[in-house]
Amino acid sequence: MRLLILSNRLQATVTEENNSVIVKSSSGGLVTGISAYLATLKDKNYLWIGWPGGSNYNDRQAVEEELCKNYHSLPVFVEEKTMDLFYNGFCNKTIWPLFHYFPYLTVYDEKMWENYKEVNAIFAEAVLKIIQPDDVLWIQDYHLMLVPQLIREKQPDVSIGFFLHIPFPSHEMFRLLPRKWGKEILQGLLDADLIGFHTYDYTQYFLRCVLRILGFNHNMGMLALEHKLTKADTFPMGIDFDKYYKAANLASVNREKALLKKGLQNLKIIFSVDRQDYTKGILKRLEGYELFLKNNPAWHQKVSLIMIVVPSRIGVEHYQKEKDIINQLIGKINGDYGNIHWTPVIYQYRAIPFEQLVALYNISDAGLVTPLRDGMNLVAKEYVAAQKEKKGVLILSEMAGAAMELGEALIINPNNREEITEAIKIALEMPLEEQARRVTAMQERLKKHDVKKWASDFFEELAKTKEEQKKYGTLRLEENELEKLFDQYNKTDRKILFLDYDGTLVPFADKPSGAVPGKKLLEIIRLLSEQSGVDIVIISGRNKKELENWYDRYPITLVAEHGVWIKKPKKEWKLSRELKNDWKPRIIQILENYKDRLPYSTIEEKEYSVVWHFRNSDYSLAGLRVKEFVDDMVQFTARNDIEVLMGNKVVEIKCSGVNKGEAARQLLSGQDYGFILAAGDDHTDELLFQALPEEAYTIKIGRQKSFAHYYLESTDEFLEIIEKMSGYRKGLFQKIFEYFKRS
Ligand code: UDP
Ligand code: G6P
Repeated sequence: MRLLILSNRLQATVTEENNSVIVKSSSGGLVTGISAYLATLKDKNYLWIGWPGGSNYNDRQAVEEELCKNYHSLPVFVEEKTMDLFYNGFCNKTIWPLFHYFPYLTVYDEKMWENYKEVNAIFAEAVLKIIQPDDVLWIQDYHLMLVPQLIREKQPDVSIGFFLHIPFPSHEMFRLLPRKWGKEILQGLLDADLIGFHTYDYTQYFLRCVLRILGFNHNMGMLALEHKLTKADTFPMGIDFDKYYKAANLASVNREKALLKKGLQNLKIIFSVDRQDYTKGILKRLEGYELFLKNNPAWHQKVSLIMIVVPSRIGVEHYQKEKDIINQLIGKINGDYGNIHWTPVIYQYRAIPFEQLVALYNISDAGLVTPLRDGMNLVAKEYVAAQKEKKGVLILSEMAGAAMELGEALIINPNNREEITEAIKIALEMPLEEQARRVTAMQERLKKHDVKKWASDFFEELAKTKEEQKKYGTLRLEENELEKLFDQYNKTDRKILFLDYDGTLVPFADKPSGAVPGKKLLEIIRLLSEQSGVDIVIISGRNKKELENWYDRYPITLVAEHGVWIKKPKKEWKLSRELKNDWKPRIIQILENYKDRLPYSTIEEKEYSVVWHFRNSDYSLAGLRVKEFVDDMVQFTARNDIEVLMGNKVVEIKCSGVNKGEAARQLLSGQDYGFILAAGDDHTDELLFQALPEEAYTIKIGRQKSFAHYYLESTDEFLEIIEKMSGYRKGLFQKIFEYFKRS
């Protein structure tokens, strides 16, 4: 198994000078994170595929050789014009601003979208040329969201992971994309096996968009799509903690520190470093610092802000504009407050080497990280890790993903100058013990959740999802399997049959009240129930009364309301566990509103659940309303102990943790059945299939993908099976025979 990493940018940016190949390190969190992880791999059995940072190489072969030999990398060459429209177009003028909540900077251009698709296809092609079925492909970031689907089409079984390094926005923001683009992006991503995000919120926003736009609900992040299972989950990216922590001892870093200290004399230092990007809040940071100087004359000549800004995406006009404004503002601050002996803002517009970066992290008294939005922000983590002497205060924007893990930082809202100003003051005056307490707590966390853990958690989950997928595929229950099934049924003493009702034992009718069991079905159930050693369980979403009316005359177990109630033969109904139903009136009130907006839909109230039926409603309108309703319910279910279950043209709202699977577990507990069969047709039966042991015969009625082992086309096909088990025909012939004998 090889690991293939695919990203837009490689860790190496290649240029040519005087006919020779020059390689420089690329900047940015993706490159830092992935290279740090790859450096931990002992076997080096990986290949990093991506854009080498340029297009017009005289000698592509030389570039390829250099990257292959020294960087385990494979360049994807894209023509300059195409790449320009891609990188400076859809990637950084559409997705980047929109996903960072800058809708007013977002450009919606059909040509750019077409180009995005074209370049995604070029990257996919580069992968397809070399990928083997047992490789693991890990696709990185927002540039390549369509690639999972393009690979899946050609390599249906290969393991594909996707990780998004930027925020995934809320549905309100995502829906600003033209519907068609949004849909294609989600579909593109969903062909990965596992989709990773930095924070829980981003994962939830993604899942919500999938529900609202494509109509798939999830179960703990697992999406059961028509053709496969896909999981979305949270993996906050870490750093190579030891690298930054131990760097404080390196001779090269100490040299840098000595030089810096000499130049800075006794000044307190606030440090910031980021790519020049409007999302990083560089202007707000400067404004906050300016206000700090204005409010605190006592700090004049005693503190400087060292600001490293790394050039980035200069082909996008907003980056250019911001650069000019930064220059002006720094000039103004230094002009207003500085003098010949003191520069309030020491500014460098360039990338800096690792030793200098760590030296600056280490000598500074405060790290100022103020993004307006940031997927994670590794600088904040690196700053904390580099404080070997347990001092230095991190001031961190609550809009960075990293704020979820670095609660001991001084957390600020970057839009509020006053908060930045106050935080600077608190940081500069914070006692050393307090600094040590905060740094130590954060360092422990960062050490534990480092970049290696991030990647290994991801791969572990990817492997688990692959295993789950194997269970999610059904075979037609063919003649030879049927023979085995009957054979086992006949030779086993203790057997149990879990039979769903609607869609399994009887076909659907226009109204639920129309789907009543016929004489033949009742006779089959009677015969089965009288066989020795056979336990019959009718396990349904129907209410107690209906099931009781039809089946109570037979010695069988009834499970009503999807597992809420259980009635053993000749016993009373019992709740499967303590439940509340005080939430029902509110749900019914909400549903009434939806019902009015979906003609021909009806509401059914059960004791511990409420069902919205829309079998007779317009199909596409129902799809729309149901997505809205389920989304509405997300808020409500988070506060109450209830869940939403999608059935066949129904939605059921019920107490959570009560389902057919749980009911089946209870009925199997302490029993020793040699033959278990379960049959069902909709989502609610999936939990039943999953709850049963591997050797159980699980049968899905209908062709959709399922956790059942087998499928049958129709209720009729299934009835034939239980008819045969019951000996119904034999019984029929016997009756006819007796009739003739009597006459
Ligand atoms: N960095 C860099 N070159 C520099 C300064 C910093 O490559 O001159 C690194 C920094 O150490 C960090 C990364 O760039 O690892 C920035 O990652 P972050 O997640 O903070 O932001 P991004 O640039 O990815 O938005
Ligand atoms: C962010 C993105 C990365 C990107 C990096 C640097 O971290 O998530 O995908 O590589 O910024 O940006 P650049 O445009 O220079 O690749």
